[in-house]
Amino acid sequence: MSNIGSYEDRLKNFAWSIAEDELDYKSGEIINIGWYCSDRICQKGKADKIALYYEGFEGNEKKFTFNDVRLASNTIGAFLKNLGLKNEDRVCLFMDRIPELYFAFLGVLKIGAVVQPLFSAFGDESLFVRLDNAQTRAIITQNKHLSKIRKIREKLPNLEFIIVVDQVRTKKTENREIGFSLEDTPPVEKFTIFPTKAESPSVLHYTSGTTGQPKGVKHVHYSLISQYLTTKWVLDLRDDDIYWCTADPGWVTGTSYGIIGPWSLGVTQCVLDSGFSAPAWYKFIEKYKVTMWYSAPTAIRSLMKAGDEVVKNYNLSSLRHLASVGEPLNSEAVIWSERIFGKQFHDTFWQTETGSIMITNYPGMKIKPGSMGKPFPGITGAIVDSKTFEPILETGKVGLIAFKPGWPAMMRTYWNNNEKYREKFVNGWYLSGDKATIDSDGYFWFIGRDDDVINTAGHLVSPFEVESALLEHPAVGESAVVAKPDEVNMEVVKAFITLKPGFTASSDLELEIMNFIRKKLSSLAMPQEIEYMDNLPKTRSGKIMRRVLHAREWGEEIGDISTLEND
Ligand code: WT7
Repeated sequence: MSNIGSYEDRLKNFAWSIAEDELDYKSGEIINIGWYCSDRICQKGKADKIALYYEGFEGNEKKFTFNDVRLASNTIGAFLKNLGLKNEDRVCLFMDRIPELYFAFLGVLKIGAVVQPLFSAFGDESLFVRLDNAQTRAIITQNKHLSKIRKIREKLPNLEFIIVVDQVRTKKTENREIGFSLEDTPPVEKFTIFPTKAESPSVLHYTSGTTGQPKGVKHVHYSLISQYLTTKWVLDLRDDDIYWCTADPGWVTGTSYGIIGPWSLGVTQCVLDSGFSAPAWYKFIEKYKVTMWYSAPTAIRSLMKAGDEVVKNYNLSSLRHLASVGEPLNSEAVIWSERIFGKQFHDTFWQTETGSIMITNYPGMKIKPGSMGKPFPGITGAIVDSKTFEPILETGKVGLIAFKPGWPAMMRTYWNNNEKYREKFVNGWYLSGDKATIDSDGYFWFIGRDDDVINTAGHLVSPFEVESALLEHPAVGESAVVAKPDEVNMEVVKAFITLKPGFTASSDLELEIMNFIRKKLSSLAMPQEIEYMDNLPKTRSGKIMRRVLHAREWGEEIGDISTLEND
């Protein structure tokens, strides 16, 4: 029997107080995610239970109990507090998936500060815009990422502390750097946790939109209520599970379900800090006897591509439940996983903004391969008309995915941008920005995004951010960036550019520009193809028509561009 039991019964009797009661939380009292994920689990008698199995890219292994997690997060919290960092300060985590990343996440929350996790593969420009926007006061990082921070720190007057976790303990230097290693710091047994309340800010994740710079999605400690219950009912985590979430905490899946969900339930999880390889992943599942695996369609498609033979070399019989997030999960992938693992991947749909799973296939529910499933109990989801914003009752008709606001993990605003936040609500609905249909059984079927944001391997990339970065290259006159279809990553970035006088199109220049973007932004944002153009298609008022280029890449009808031309 799964944790959720009967979905229909849960729908009838649902209240978020189910999670509040299980977490012994009473409205108006203190709620701190750092405490819930470590101290409370120890108090419940699981101090010696393994919280984390870690394996680095060189194969180095470590393991930590919940008591180790409690002590390490206390120690980091105390260190930050001694530096003078306080509640509501933004502290960025810019690290690979090393154990310190997970401990620091809880340590920052324990002092009531706001944790801002950023993907360690980000280049200096991606890093700069996010630190600048959040007016981040401290960044916790590793030696290997220091050069990127050194490049931009002069432009970041608010960034007072650059804390390096793999350097011996040092005092703050003139250039704001401080060495801090957990190994040479005595563990802090008792730490007074900052008394955060439900609405105290907790996590700040940056996400990309079509226009403007990335937006900081502000979450609060009360998000725990949704994250705990969805982890329990959707990911179906149980006491004896070994859980593997393949997402990096630089992205919301890696925090909501790679830290908060499993640890608030006191479940053992494993982390593999290395890139993708089918044999390495299968070996990891076999070695740690992973029972619950939460991954993404691009990874599943890559495993499919690696072939069915390689799987046979491993014993994967420990797997009990599989789930996926981030992009459309093709029906082929569901069918394949059933054949290969004897289990279907359960799709989960949600966003950085929603903070927790919104639409999903529940354990025990009939899966229609290719469908995302149904809204979580307590969530009112609908497809609304893109003009009237009224729910579409007709089955099979395309509309916008919308939710009634008010679930615990919902974002509270976009950092310093309340206006953009308010734009997400129309006619009493939160608009996700995605399109779908609903069938006669109430299952949601994903159609696509309602904007130009590119979803590459489950990561959102803003065409605007890439276009702006392209313009900084000396050879680029104009640029337009769109998604191009890709067998494995679903979409990849494609750029169209015109050259400035004096530059000649060549494949060397194409490579140079690609590298320029990879260094500045990230390998995800790097165009996989650059096409030289004499002119870019424009409206009469001079606006570049991405839509025309997009349609060309996808072999679609361009549609009516007369309005665009006049715009
Ligand atoms: C966007 C949100 C929250 C986890 C990671 C992504 C797309 C997400 C699915 C799915 C089809 C999906 C949507 C959404 N997306 N899950 N199951 N099927 N598309 O978070 O970076 O905020 O991206 O990812 O377009 O709006 P994110």
